[in-house]
Amino acid sequence: MVLSDTLSGTSAARIGPDAHPVDVDRPHPEISFAGVGKRYDGKGSGDVVALTGIDLQVREGEFVAVVGPSGCGKSTLLRLASGLERPSSGTVAVRTDSVGFIFQEATLLPWRKVLRNVELSAELRGIDRGTRRARATRALDAVGLTDFAGKLPGQLSGGMRMRVSLARALALEPRLMLLDEPFGALDEITRLSMQEELLRLYRDNVFTALFITHSVSEAVFLAGRVVVMSARPGRAHEVIDIDLPAARTRELRFDPAYTELVSRVSRSLKEAC
Ligand SMILES: Nc1ncnc2c1ncn2[C@@H]1O[C@H](COP(=O)(O)OP(=O)(O)OP(=O)(O)O)[C@@H](O)[C@H]1O
Ligand SMILES: [Mg+2]
Repeated sequence: MVLSDTLSGTSAARIGPDAHPVDVDRPHPEISFAGVGKRYDGKGSGDVVALTGIDLQVREGEFVAVVGPSGCGKSTLLRLASGLERPSSGTVAVRTDSVGFIFQEATLLPWRKVLRNVELSAELRGIDRGTRRARATRALDAVGLTDFAGKLPGQLSGGMRMRVSLARALALEPRLMLLDEPFGALDEITRLSMQEELLRLYRDNVFTALFITHSVSEAVFLAGRVVVMSARPGRAHEVIDIDLPAARTRELRFDPAYTELVSRVSRSLKEAC
């Protein structure tokens, strides 16, 4: 999928089999932002330049986290990657149509039981009933909620609802997972266990992840690279390699190498704002 547009809006998006592949090195980037800017129409109150000059590649199988101050364009970046928005300048190229999107709120349908909520994305994609039921059952098992398949969302805790949301995205078996502050509304203890659960799912299901967060410690714990964005208009201020072991256990949070990286990203964020 290649999305491209200009400020004047004259060039249409190119999506699907006729899209031109971008010229990339191997391993292929799953997402490539090249000179991307995004300007929103202020509808008479002045346009908002949300992003400018974004050059970023997310490699296949990589876990990249993005941190930055509120309003710096993090959600915009994710919506561009998902194809929900088009860039005002530059090019966004995404190699796969197999994309799972997880929002900050669990966004479940309150009248549908948990299993049927998990099936929803697959249903909307037109995946046949037998396949989507099998995938949903597997995904629910992966997030440890098999026993809650027949409950309604209102009968679950906030952390459980977020796990249902994760399961719903997993049921699509996506190659690319886009996550917009998925754990922002959770209490600290639930949040830490959800981070560990997400990493387990990432390892088991082999997808590429672009993860937005306000939390520096969360970004460092999860990611292989952290993109630090500057305040509006958002730019990639610095990209920091997180040189920690692939197996991120609970003990890692007390490791001096981890705390040093948290300080390093925090310093970069302070410079950027
Ligand atoms: N649909 C829209 N129309 C107009 N302006 C928008 C729209 N969406 C976002 N913006 C503006 O673009 C800028 C970036 O918004 P965005 O939601 O991407 O920020 P963010 O980094 O995700 O913020 P937060 O951390 O608070 O979620 C903000 O100034 C916002 O007001
Ligand atoms: Mg946001």
